[in-house]
Amino acid sequence: MRVVVLHNAEETLEQGDAKDALAVVAVRACADAVVSGLRRLGHDGLLLPAPEQPGVLLAAIERARPDVVFSLIESYRGDAALEPAVVALLELVGVPFTGNRSLACTLALRKSIAKALLVAAGVPVAAGVVVEREDALAAGSSAGDAGHALLAEFAARVPFPWIVKPAAEDASHGIDAGSVVFNLAAAGARATQIALRYHQAAIIERFIVGRELNVALLGPHAAPEVLPLRAIDFANFPAGRPALVTYDSKWVAGSPDWNGTNVVDADLPSATEARVRDVALRAWKALGLTGYGRVDLRLDVDGTPVVLEANPNPDLTPDAGFALAWGRTGATYDELLARILEQAHAGPAP
Ligand SMILES: Nc1ncnc2c1ncn2[C@@H]1O[C@H](COP(=O)(O)OP(=O)(O)O)[C@@H](O)[C@H]1O
Ligand SMILES: [Mg+2]
Repeated sequence: MRVVVLHNAEETLEQGDAKDALAVVAVRACADAVVSGLRRLGHDGLLLPAPEQPGVLLAAIERARPDVVFSLIESYRGDAALEPAVVALLELVGVPFTGNRSLACTLALRKSIAKALLVAAGVPVAAGVVVEREDALAAGSSAGDAGHALLAEFAARVPFPWIVKPAAEDASHGIDAGSVVFNLAAAGARATQIALRYHQAAIIERFIVGRELNVALLGPHAAPEVLPLRAIDFANFPAGRPALVTYDSKWVAGSPDWNGTNVVDADLPSATEARVRDVALRAWKALGLTGYGRVDLRLDVDGTPVVLEANPNPDLTPDAGFALAWGRTGATYDELLARILEQAHAGPAP
């Protein structure tokens, strides 16, 4: 098959820290691994860094006449919010493409909408509130008066610690040691910092301290396969800090957070494993995932699996979580690419 491997071209971001760009550059390494694998499988793999002009992008896809587009797009022109628009362009062209449809990609970047859908489907999520950007920026108090009232009301029913995260980012952008807060003032200050640095709302949640689990799923929307469950081992996480997967954990090799977050086999008791798989599958269904995705959860004190988020099209780099979970089945990376290619579809449903 002729397979166009479409990936981000840019190496800088519109917003956030310069360090945030590391996550974007990593997409290039992934694209190289995918194209090499496709060629080993006997396909005609072509790398296409997404041109900055939509018309040029469209023309490049049409000119390549691919049988399938292998979509590794995470952002467009430096803006993660435009990722779903590029996927929607593939839907518009009608070319089969791998991974998720634009709707699921949009939901992943709108954490509060995704949470509402999970709640409606009976999937346990962390109690939370959203502080709008304008409220966080308003004068009067650290998170603005409206934001402050909201947080005070939240504090009356949800005990600290809380986590404060950007409402419209992924890949742990904006997640660091200061994300976990222990009082109202710190929560408000953090929401304001997110408003200033990331130009978006903040989502504030009860911080679930139990084990963190990753559930990789692969296959069509209606009948995905659940890959071997993985967990984050925080044993070497810097002492005295709440354990969580920060930006440094994911992207800054050799940092204390990186060294302190190792992905291992989950080895859960079978009853817990069954609950985790069930919750992950329900999250996949509720958010319309297809192709491949990863659901991240933490176990609450009573053992309830709480969904933190679902990631459509997680990183496919051979040494990243998804491929490593696949590797636990005994199959090769190239076989993973072949499976994802088989699932490629053209339509906008489900
Ligand atoms: N409510 C929560 N309770 C405990 N830890 C959380 C919570 N929300 C996020 N985290 C931690 O922060 C990390 C990143 O948060 P996540 O919502 O997955 O953002 P991203 O989309 O940037 O990956 C998670 O992997 C987890 O370690
Ligand atoms: Mg995450």
